[in-house]
Amino acid sequence: MPDITHEAAYRAHTNIALIKYWGKRNPELFLPVTSSLSLTLDAFYTETRIQFSPDYTRDTLYLNHKQMEADEMAHISHFVDLFRQEAGVQAACQINSINHVPTAAGLASSASAFAALGSACNTALGLNMDAQQLSTFVRQGSGSASRSVHGGFVLWHRGEGDVSSSSFTEQIDDANWDIGMLVVAVNTEVKPFSSRAGMQHTVETSPFYQQWPAEVEKDLALMLEAIEAQDFTTMGEISEHNAMKMHATMLAAKPSFTYFQGESILAMHLVQKLRREGLECYYTMDAGPNVKVLCRQSDMAHIKAAFAIHFKPDQLIEAKPGPGPEAIQWKE
Ligand code: PMV
Repeated sequence: MPDITHEAAYRAHTNIALIKYWGKRNPELFLPVTSSLSLTLDAFYTETRIQFSPDYTRDTLYLNHKQMEADEMAHISHFVDLFRQEAGVQAACQINSINHVPTAAGLASSASAFAALGSACNTALGLNMDAQQLSTFVRQGSGSASRSVHGGFVLWHRGEGDVSSSSFTEQIDDANWDIGMLVVAVNTEVKPFSSRAGMQHTVETSPFYQQWPAEVEKDLALMLEAIEAQDFTTMGEISEHNAMKMHATMLAAKPSFTYFQGESILAMHLVQKLRREGLECYYTMDAGPNVKVLCRQSDMAHIKAAFAIHFKPDQLIEAKPGPGPEAIQWKE
């Protein structure tokens, strides 16, 4: 690899979907059944460095200073292969990755992880892909990661047929307005189904899933208008409804399953109560028990105070809109 940089390091942030991605039409290429839309958050991010060298005999990854087991490495190596093939490079790599997620949150984030790793591969191998093209590679690490290739509000287009390049992401608004998210970390001993297993099971067995693509199409059109108009109320109502429709498809799967825990329900009831009292906020949930409360940044202190009556301080994490991936200096 004579003319290219052999190493690069990036920071990428996680994102939370307001219009959810749930189900693949092509599992090999991670092509989704529907488009989706998210907000990138500042509070949770991953920093990753990759080094390629002909001296390495195999790929290795140290996540939070702990070496990843060989069997868990297969998906990572397959992901890096996409970039190696594009660059015509064979060298093995060493990856160091640190997840900056408040420990109580238990929010292992594949979105920020694959966005950081993909960005680092792109630079280290001298590929110079723009963010749109990069998103089609990052998507194949984890679908939601393709949205973390941008900051602010991000739209992931479902694309056409089996054409990988048609399913890309783009920023539609920098979210530089009065928006925030309170993450309510629900502690649990129960290990949730992975999103990959959960969505596959839902697609295959839930009679409600048939309705899902049409619901997303309607919600997405209204959400795009609401973001354009900076209409917080409509955005909140659509996100909450969209998330609950997704969770309803899981309740109707056979056998039924859910990511809700007792404290998740408590948090959702609290949001409804705050709304009745005139403090506007809305909830969304993903493939785990944590609840994310969409609010105006200017209401954050009041909302957090209301939650602090029921949840411990380290369960409540404030987030603002976050940026896309950034190159960083790696510190050992
Ligand atoms: O791409 P994954 O495996 O992280 O799946 C994401 C699924 C949800 O978080 C539930 C929804 C979404 O759009 O992020």
